[in-house]
Amino acid sequence: MRVFIAGVDGYLGWTLAQHLARQGHDVGGADALLRRIWVDEMESLSAIPIASMDERLASFGEHFGKPMRFFALDLRDHTALCAALAEFKPDAVVHLAECPSAPYSMIDFHHADFVQHNNVSGTLSLLFAMRDHCPEAHLVKLGSMGEYGTPNLDIPEGFFEVEYRGRRDQLPFPRQAGSWYHWSKVFDSHNVAFACKLWGLRATDVMQGVVYGTWLDTDARLNTRLDFDEAFGTALNRFCCQAVIGKPLMPYGQGTQRRGFLSLADSMHCLSLAIEHPPAASEYRVFNQLREVLSVNDLAQLVRVACESFELAVEIKPLDNPRVEAEAHHYRPDSQHLRQLGFRQSLPIDEEIRNMIGDLLPHRDRIAAHADQLAPTVRWRDSRSHSHSVRTHDERDAHEREEARERERT
Ligand SMILES: NC(=O)c1ccc[n+]([C@@H]2O[C@H](COP(=O)([O-])OP(=O)(O)OC[C@H]3O[C@@H](n4cnc5c(N)ncnc54)[C@H](O)[C@@H]3O)[C@@H](O)[C@H]2O)c1
Repeated sequence: MRVFIAGVDGYLGWTLAQHLARQGHDVGGADALLRRIWVDEMESLSAIPIASMDERLASFGEHFGKPMRFFALDLRDHTALCAALAEFKPDAVVHLAECPSAPYSMIDFHHADFVQHNNVSGTLSLLFAMRDHCPEAHLVKLGSMGEYGTPNLDIPEGFFEVEYRGRRDQLPFPRQAGSWYHWSKVFDSHNVAFACKLWGLRATDVMQGVVYGTWLDTDARLNTRLDFDEAFGTALNRFCCQAVIGKPLMPYGQGTQRRGFLSLADSMHCLSLAIEHPPAASEYRVFNQLREVLSVNDLAQLVRVACESFELAVEIKPLDNPRVEAEAHHYRPDSQHLRQLGFRQSLPIDEEIRNMIGDLLPHRDRIAAHADQLAPTVRWRDSRSHSHSVRTHDERDAHEREEARERERT
């Protein structure tokens, strides 16, 4: 199949490109390299060093026998996106190209506005571009389990049957997001469902749990990023980075918040299953993509135990919760759809964590040099005085020019 990955330079995107190429798919992709800029804005870096996009593309061609067609574009540049899809002619489009951070969206008005504009407008641009240039292609859109929030009910896969005043209907399960970022995902879900109804597009909306894990290769240009700063590091990845530099793990609040998790390798398996089993035209389906439900305290304990194999002592030191969220709550999401397509978990989580610790240890100095970025400073209720300012496009262009000059100098 010809698969177009929007957001191919990201944590999941760069990994997925390799996973799909190994399975014989013809991969193309687009990215505006924004994630690099956002992490830079947080004054942090990827714990695992990553190559430039040019180097990544060179290595991809060498390893997979075929170059990747790459489009350096912002999804909101509708003309450029239409030209890319018209040229690439995908059978499937995987849409990962969004700002994925709840804390980043909670910094202040400018960040909330940027995240919602980037995500909602980018998705709308993609939907119209698919309608006009590849209406038969299957859209695999990355949503988030965070769209559902933590209702006091089991969470079905997208829809549930309701009886109200003697009538029954199959309706979208209520979304109760907990950050401006997660609301952008909710708005996307509604827009994707509407585009399927309106134009007959086919889509899988993937409510993904939190992903953890490293992806390394003997050719370091193929490594994917792994962030640990307060905005772009996800829970377990951050805990592992804290553990390898001897910093205490910091569960927020009581640490009893429960979420769905899955490893990077399992996320790749799930996404390829979704791609290889497209829905019918006009169908909008929802997959809950997760492997295990764990509390934040469970994660901390798992990391502590995994570190024993490396003789690393780990302290666990809870922090006041900077977020506004329920800490003790019911949480039981369904996740049958992917299992029915054949999803089986690969490595158990404790083995994944040991592998991650082993991969991160050689980079402990790099993480330690940015250890200040591990502590949360963004507060959900009030972060008006936060020092980070979202980069404008002009600033971004200047940054890219500076990077290009730096590359020429070295
Ligand atoms: N990583 C997780 O734990 C997780 C969990 C649930 C859902 N998701 C979702 O999966 C998707 C990918 O997540 P990720 O962790 O790989 O994030 P990421 O930030 O590493 O990847 C996103 C990529 O998209 C690019 N991008 C963003 N906006 C763009 C735009 N307007 N135009 C072009 N490129 C743009 C970024 O530069 C980045 O390379 C996101 O939609 C995220 O919300 C991720």
